[in-house]
Amino acid sequence: MSTFASDNASGVHPEILAALAAANAGHQPSYGRDDYTGRLQDVFRAHFGGAARGYPVLNGTGANVVALQAASDRWGAVICADTAHIHVDECGAPEKMAGLKLLVLPTGHGKLTVEDIRREARGFDDEHRARPQVVSLTQSTELGTVYTPAEIAEIAEFAHGHDMHVHVDGARLANAAAHLGVPLRAFTTDAGVDIVSFGGTKNGMLLGEAVVVLNPRLNHGMDYLRKSSMQLYSKMRYVSAQFLALLEGDLWLRNATHANAMATRLAGQVRDLPSLEIGHPVQANAVFVRLPEPALADLHEQFSFSDWSTGEARWMTSFDTTTKDVDQFAKAVHAALTR
Ligand SMILES: Cc1ncc(COP(=O)(O)O)c(C=O)c1O
Repeated sequence: MSTFASDNASGVHPEILAALAAANAGHQPSYGRDDYTGRLQDVFRAHFGGAARGYPVLNGTGANVVALQAASDRWGAVICADTAHIHVDECGAPEKMAGLKLLVLPTGHGKLTVEDIRREARGFDDEHRARPQVVSLTQSTELGTVYTPAEIAEIAEFAHGHDMHVHVDGARLANAAAHLGVPLRAFTTDAGVDIVSFGGTKNGMLLGEAVVVLNPRLNHGMDYLRKSSMQLYSKMRYVSAQFLALLEGDLWLRNATHANAMATRLAGQVRDLPSLEIGHPVQANAVFVRLPEPALADLHEQFSFSDWSTGEARWMTSFDTTTKDVDQFAKAVHAALTR
């Protein structure tokens, strides 16, 4: 039985494993000069537009640290939600490794608005304050919600009007596209986003993410930033081959659509239970709930899932969650609440 702990708890999609095995023939140039990484640039351009350039990296924290450095000066600050992974789940890496100040804002359902951002978009010419240079959004958010293309475009317009770049932490970018039913570029490139941390791991890869630069000016020094941030993987063909398997066809979308559907199914089966409250719109692959403590304890004995910083339980689905997994879990939730 699958767990509901994290989309990182799932295994590797068989098509990705097959691509890895196929890529394992012969020698290839190292550090990204291989055929797979070369081909991957065409794939990133197809998804994100002709100016896009992708830089494969090893993990999401690394992607964020590299991307945020590319989008800011050494004296820069990053405006983000108080639920942002860069703030709560990266052991201070953006502060420690990139030396950036995070300006953190409370939000409704994990999504920043222009009104929120306005509160920290000040003091641009005051050397006593780290200069706000980046707005970082997570799409889909840590709370399983999704920004619309129009919401991102409005934020980007405001940010650019204040000389700030827009970074998207897209560890679950595919889940957002699946929910919105639009291409990846519709809410990134076309909405004015400058740089994306694009996730592969949660969508069925064994490991690997990519920094995708959409604003060509931010390519400046990227090769150096990636290396000095310890994210330049020598046998890069193995990351790139996985991305090719994910992105050349529709595997990325199939996986994300399925994961989202499993969360919707789970929410649908528990939504009307008395004394259970769903905390946020279920738009991607997470369901956040509030439950009475005894029911929570009962469920924890049987299933693996997280208690979140918001005081809610987080139930996460993945590309390999089955309808049977969901139905069994929902049944256990019913039982726990009626005991
Ligand atoms: C929103 C978000 N960003 C980034 C990451 C990447 O983290 P890691 O460094 O573990 O790959 C995660 C993983 O949980 C995430 O949820």
